[in-house]
Amino acid sequence: MPRILQFLQLNSTNAYAKTHAKELEDGAVICAEEQTAGRGRFNRKWVSAQGGLYFSFLLKPNNTQHLPNLTQLMALCICQTVRALGAPAQLKWPNDVLVNDQKLSGILSEVVLEQNRFYALVIGVGINIRQADLSQVGQPAVSLEALNIHIRRQDMLARLLERFNARLPKALAEGFASFGEEYKALFPYIGRTVCITAGGGKTAGTVRDISSSGTLLLHTQQGLQEFSIGDMNA
Ligand code: BTN
Repeated sequence: MPRILQFLQLNSTNAYAKTHAKELEDGAVICAEEQTAGRGRFNRKWVSAQGGLYFSFLLKPNNTQHLPNLTQLMALCICQTVRALGAPAQLKWPNDVLVNDQKLSGILSEVVLEQNRFYALVIGVGINIRQADLSQVGQPAVSLEALNIHIRRQDMLARLLERFNARLPKALAEGFASFGEEYKALFPYIGRTVCITAGGGKTAGTVRDISSSGTLLLHTQQGLQEFSIGDMNA
């Protein structure tokens, strides 16, 4: 059973996992009660006050074919764990978890390179558990506590890791196909008009589907476009 390293404070659990990737084992989890420089996707800041769950999962897989899908699997497992606790969580492609259109959780995955070759994947997860104040987050956000769900951070982490570790081998071998139907069942945006920010540009369109490899298929004025990465706004 890989170790869970617990810290009172880190600058960023992702930064720690990346710096120490060599000495950490596959499946190691780095957890901090607060982060002084928590980071989100697209270089955004991730407000990381006490009361939230902040951790990074380090993976050193032999098969790197389906790496982006592992982040989607983590999002699905968060969503399912939260739903099992009683909140109507949903997924926002590629890996946000929302409740009532408010952000409950986000994931920042980063790759560690060794001599320009893939060495490890760091899946960094932030979940709002019971922070006193989410007004600094910069977008509508909600915590489990505000949804009347009272769970300790460590219990949430244990439930989530159990679910994720159980699904991981199949996801490593088969990618999105191994959990795609479950993901799509919790993804409410098919048929809705959205805007995708990717590669410095914005594209508006109607969500057609999530493909069998986990990419977003968007019907636009220029035809069907496929996105493997991006930020989706409804
Ligand atoms: C996002 O939605 O923009 C992703 C947020 C990811 C935040 C987590 S908290 C633990 C890990 N350490 C970081 O610095 N970021 C991730």
